[in-house]
Amino acid sequence: MIRILKIGGSILTDKNQEFAARPEEIARIASEIATCADGLVLVHGAGSFGHIPAKRYGLPQQFSPEGMRMTHLSVARLCEMVVVALSQAGVQCLPVHPLSTVMLRQGRIESFFLEPVKEMIKKGIMPVLHGDVAMDASGGAAIVSGDQIVAYLAGELQAEKVAVGSNVDGVLVSGRPLPCMTRDGLSKFKNDIGASAGVDVTGGMKGKLEELLELADRGTESVIFNAGKEGNIVRALRGEGVGTRIMRQK
Ligand code: IPE
Repeated sequence: MIRILKIGGSILTDKNQEFAARPEEIARIASEIATCADGLVLVHGAGSFGHIPAKRYGLPQQFSPEGMRMTHLSVARLCEMVVVALSQAGVQCLPVHPLSTVMLRQGRIESFFLEPVKEMIKKGIMPVLHGDVAMDASGGAAIVSGDQIVAYLAGELQAEKVAVGSNVDGVLVSGRPLPCMTRDGLSKFKNDIGASAGVDVTGGMKGKLEELLELADRGTESVIFNAGKEGNIVRALRGEGVGTRIMRQK
């Protein structure tokens, strides 16, 4: 059984300060993941390691090879921290960089070389992917969010569970998490759903919902939950009622 977990960059870093990792949070997340690592694919966000350099170079609106290099090297550093923390917690894992494996067209994944990921899973190794810059065949946008990667992988790997951890209790309306969200819900609450608290070039909560609603339309439900609260990762992966369930319109 394959399960996909995303940990948002807002948990691993301080989204307002460049290169401000949160080592204690990274270590806590790694030890929680270690208790439920079986068949898990991890995708992490870029946080301040990605959004701040991307914004500085005008990505994704402007094509900037230098901006892509600086942003990628920075998110690859964050990925290294996550991989080291996971291995210290006893998890066999390997980094997979989307820049080297994904091709975009108009900002959407057109192809993804997934053989290494599938082979890692077969060998009991946890693949660790992340939001990244990527080449785009249309010459435009060149950022692939961790959320888009989650939705794509969930389809391709036929994941049975998809859990997306952020630093809030789910999809908040007037400060309270909704128990579930559908396309109708998004149109109803679209003006109430907040933007990300820090610098964000991939659309914050609305961007996340677009990806996960599309996944729900294709038949896979997911949950958005607060990974900042201890124990929630395991609960979300077990399907216990934490956060907001993203469901297909009935
Ligand atoms: C963003 O990825 C990727 C870059 C800015 C390079 P995400 O959108 O998944 O990152 P978080 O979770 O918001 O930090």
